[in-house]
Amino acid sequence: MSFKKILVPTDGSELTKYAVDKAIELAELSGGKVTALYVLDKSIYANSPMDTAVINVYDTLEKEGKYATGYVAEKARAAGVDIEEKLVDGVPAKVILQEAESGSYDIIVMGTLGRTGISKLLMGSVAEKIIQNAKCPVMVAKSPIALKE
Ligand SMILES: Nc1ncnc2c1ncn2[C@@H]1O[C@H](COP(=O)(O)OP(=O)(O)O)[C@@H](O)[C@H]1O
Ligand SMILES: [Mg+2]
Repeated sequence: MSFKKILVPTDGSELTKYAVDKAIELAELSGGKVTALYVLDKSIYANSPMDTAVINVYDTLEKEGKYATGYVAEKARAAGVDIEEKLVDGVPAKVILQEAESGSYDIIVMGTLGRTGISKLLMGSVAEKIIQNAKCPVMVAKSPIALKE
């Protein structure tokens, strides 16, 4: 088994940071390269009570995305791991699965929970869809924060 190409989907949430750390440790072990992927999900604001004309949805998501992949990049650089950052528009699970296939990744590393983070749930819907449909191995890491709750 060699895990040279590692895909790390991230929503920038606290619960995802543990998975990010594990992905970088894996890259250090395998001498692999990490791609951090944030999917800009505009549907988040579909039922927003705020006037969507006032808040700039795209700017907000882009900022969050840059923070999310930037966090991975910072950690990777500190560990001497090769890093690439990607921000893509769309439905998170779909985009992650497409990227995993088109980029021929060896493994996907992600959190069990993300921004919604309902700890009653074993995992969120994005994690569930990736595990069910990915053609490559998936490592799902549960944050100690979620274990405590
Ligand atoms: N918009 C997104 N872009 C990239 N990865 C995401 C996105 N949303 C979720 N993920 C990935 O899926 C994992 C689980 O999140 P999710 O299934 O959305 O749970 P929750 O319902 O708690 O938000 C996250 O740790 C992250 O790795
Ligand atoms: Mg989510």
